Amino acid sequence: MNKIKLFVSGPREFVDYITHQVENNPGAMMIVNVSTEPSQTVAILESGSTSADVLLLGFDDRKIETMVQPLSRFSENFPIFISAKQLSVAHKKWKPFYFNIAREGGELSAITRYFKDRPQDIAIPERASVINTVASQARVEHVKERENRIETIPVDKKVITVFGQKGGIGKTCTVVSVSQSLSTLTTMSVCVLDLDMNRDYGDILRYFGYVGNDKVDALTIERPDWAGQLKLPTEKTLSAWTKLLSGEKSGDGKFMLSDEMRLNKKLVEHCLIKIKPNLFFLPPVRTIMDEHSISETDVRKIISILRRHFSTVIIDGGNTLSTQTVSAISESDDLLIMAEAAIASFDSLADFTLNTLNIVKGHAVPRIIINMMMDKDKIPRKQYVDPEKELPEIVGGFPVIAVFPWDDELNISVRWKLIVPYYGAHDTPFTREMPNLLKHLYPKEIFSQAKEKDSGNGFFRFFKKFLALGGAR
Ligand SMILES: Nc1ncnc2c1ncn2[C@@H]1O[C@H](COP(=O)(O)OP(=O)(O)OP(=O)(O)O)[C@@H](O)[C@H]1O
Ligand SMILES: [Mg+2]
Repeated sequence: MNKIKLFVSGPREFVDYITHQVENNPGAMMIVNVSTEPSQTVAILESGSTSADVLLLGFDDRKIETMVQPLSRFSENFPIFISAKQLSVAHKKWKPFYFNIAREGGELSAITRYFKDRPQDIAIPERASVINTVASQARVEHVKERENRIETIPVDKKVITVFGQKGGIGKTCTVVSVSQSLSTLTTMSVCVLDLDMNRDYGDILRYFGYVGNDKVDALTIERPDWAGQLKLPTEKTLSAWTKLLSGEKSGDGKFMLSDEMRLNKKLVEHCLIKIKPNLFFLPPVRTIMDEHSISETDVRKIISILRRHFSTVIIDGGNTLSTQTVSAISESDDLLIMAEAAIASFDSLADFTLNTLNIVKGHAVPRIIINMMMDKDKIPRKQYVDPEKELPEIVGGFPVIAVFPWDDELNISVRWKLIVPYYGAHDTPFTREMPNLLKHLYPKEIFSQAKEKDSGNGFFRFFKKFLALGGAR
């Protein structure tokens, strides 16, 4: 059998470790390329100069995400392996891109197993010259640009609540997509808090890909050695957190748990669901019955703990002004009101926004997001609201900071694959509008230089004028 030719890409230690293993097992494999940066990896692949049979990636998720798009062009017929600690999590995350997963430490045996069934795939000389187009360089540049952004972006801390007057208008999709985009494109640490308690477990857990028994597993908290005598919540839910915090006592000079949590990031992260190294998540309740046990003060207390440890806390406020949602908005810096693009929805939008502001306290800046905007041609002329002319009036002067189009791709992806597309990994009509929203949420820090072509569908141009009219900051 021919030797399997390996392209190893990852941090220096990873490359050294794999090289060492290959040298200790001569015969089966040889290394033909190495790279220690994502852009270098993409450049080698795009140049068509490698004769490798397989690519093995040892980067963390965030770095891999910078190159998902260029790599997924290769991955259907060129095996790409990702070395991962947690197999099931990695599978869920990377399967849609046709990446293979190898357990950390067992990379070479996973690759050997793969080629055992496909000896004909080893050493195909033609593969090297598959693609080398003008766009290749652009793709490499794109990955490079993202790498740089990961390294350098400083950010203010903030709490954002997404709220809407109706069900099924994309609040949860927006919360998940924003959190994934931010944690992919920046070094920010992001925590998602779900306050929509209309369903057991809330909704977001599903939108992060957990269904059936995985939901139960995701809530489990194991007791680590370092926790000592410390009491931990019984599970990773807001209601379990609040039970613990409201039962706490400050005896004999000891910390109360909320103080402990305010000081100890490791403890807090341990009691949250980890989606990736800089993205965490807290579901609301295990069953909707628990909703009533969560008081206004509990919510405030928990948001203040989360605010301390994360750059961004993003909250799904659901669509009822429950006491919990009221106190979340009162604690927020930004209030994003979502509305469906439809006359029935516009009709009450200004009143709804105003009334919400009258009920909540605090300093949240209200802004509006329109979702599911249909193509002009698809709506009968009589029923069409021309957003450019009419929306600013309709929304009562509140700024509209993003208009997401109707997106079939997103709809199918969310409903059938439980994957919410996001800016930085997917290219759909919805994600193309995302930079607009991010630019408004983080005007100085991140997306101020986002080029117009980033937000570049005809949509943006179409709405540009009215965005300005709407007073977008
Ligand atoms: N721009 C869009 N284009 C097409 N479909 C969309 C769009 N935004 C959201 N959807 C679809 O609408 C459905 C509802 O979205 P989502 O769950 O985010 O809404 P929600 O406001 O959180 O609803 P709920 O009030 O039930 O929690 C999802 O199935 C999603 O696929
Ligand atoms: Mg929802």
